[in-house]
Amino acid sequence: MNTRIVKMEEENLDEQALQEAGMLIKAGGLVAFPTETVYGLGGDALNGTSSAKIYAAKGRPSDNPLIIHIADMEALPVVVREVPQAAYMLAQRYWPGPLTMIFNRAECVPRETTGGLETVAVRMPSNKIAQALIREAGGYIAAPSANLSGRPSPTVAKYVVQDLDGRVDMIIDGGDADLGLESTIIDLTGDKPMILRPGYITEEMLREAIGQVETDQTIMDGDAKQAPKAPGMKYRHYAPKGSLVIVEGETGKRISYINEQLSLQKKAGRKTGVIATDETAGNYLADSVKSVGKRRDEEQIAKALFRILREFDDEEVQMIYAESFEKRGVGHAVMNRLLKAAGHQVVKL
Ligand code: TXA
Ligand code: MG
Repeated sequence: MNTRIVKMEEENLDEQALQEAGMLIKAGGLVAFPTETVYGLGGDALNGTSSAKIYAAKGRPSDNPLIIHIADMEALPVVVREVPQAAYMLAQRYWPGPLTMIFNRAECVPRETTGGLETVAVRMPSNKIAQALIREAGGYIAAPSANLSGRPSPTVAKYVVQDLDGRVDMIIDGGDADLGLESTIIDLTGDKPMILRPGYITEEMLREAIGQVETDQTIMDGDAKQAPKAPGMKYRHYAPKGSLVIVEGETGKRISYINEQLSLQKKAGRKTGVIATDETAGNYLADSVKSVGKRRDEEQIAKALFRILREFDDEEVQMIYAESFEKRGVGHAVMNRLLKAAGHQVVKL
C-alpha cells in the first residue's frame, strides 16, 4: 500500500486534504492523525471491517478494544446505550480533551470496535485537525495509538511513519503532540466511576467534577493476580527495543549505582542510555543521556517520555537506566507508563 503523507498545522487546516482523508475513512480506509495526547490510527468506528483492518495494521490482539473519537456532543448518545449524568458533568469540564469514558455500547457499534465487549470507550479530542477529520469522516473514528503493538506511542509524526508507512492510506503530520501521553480512561458502567488508565486528567481533577472516583488497583502493580479492567493494560507495552530498568533511591546513591552499572555494561560491549532530569543529567557516564526536563515539572516529563524511548531505539541503545519520578499529579501516569515500558524491572536502593 502506498501511504500518502500530508503536513498541516492546527492553525491552518488543509481543508482539501482533510476532505480526502475523511473520504478514505468513509470508504473503509485508514488514516493516522494527530491528537493532543498521541497520534491515532483511525478508521470508521461503525464499520467492523475497518476496525479489523486497524488491528491488522497495528499487529494488535483483537480482544483489545478501540476508542471511538467524536467531535460533537450529539454523537455520544448514538454510540452509547445510555449517557449517565456523571458523563455530562465530566464532558462539561474536560471535553474536548484527554479523557476517555467507558459506557454500555449501543447496538450500532460493531463488536470488532469494542474487542467483543458490551462496553464502548469514547473520547472527544481537542486537537483541531482531529476534530475536522472526525467530522469529514462522518462523526465516529475508532483510533488506537498509531504505533505498532507494544511500541511506545508516537508523539511526533516521524514515529508514525516509522511504524505505519505502507500499512495505512494516509498519515497527517500535525507536528508535536501537545501532551505526549494517552488519555485518562474512566469507566462509568460500574457502581462507582473507576479509573482504568491514569493520564493527564488526574484522579483529583475527576473528583472535582463528580465526587467519588476509584482507581483500578491492578494498574501500577506488576504481579497482580487479577487482570486489569482495560484489556490493553495487561500487555507489555510502550517498550523500547533495549532493556529498561528503573532505579529508585536518594539522588547521590542512584547516580553512583547507575554509573557502576553503566561501566559494567560498557565492558560487556553494550550501548547504554540513561533517562535523567535536568538536575542530574550531567552526572551520568552513559553513551546517551537524555533529560525529560525539570524533576518538578511532571507535565514536561509526560511530554518527553515516549519521544525519548523512541530516540533510544533510533540510536540502538541496548541497556537503559531510568530515574523514577514522583507519583504526583500527572506523574502517576508517567510512572504507570514507565513501569510498563520496563516490564516492572525496578531496583530499589
Ligand atoms: O489518548 C488516547 O487515548 C489515544 C489517542 C489516539 O486518542 N488513544 C489510545 O488508544 O491510547 P489505545 O488503543 O492505544 O488505548 C486504548 C485503551 C486500551 O488499553 C484498551 O484496552 C482500553 O483503552 N479500552 C478501550 N475500550 C475499552 C472498554 N470498552 N473497556 C475497557 N477498556 C477499554
Ligand atoms: Mg496504545
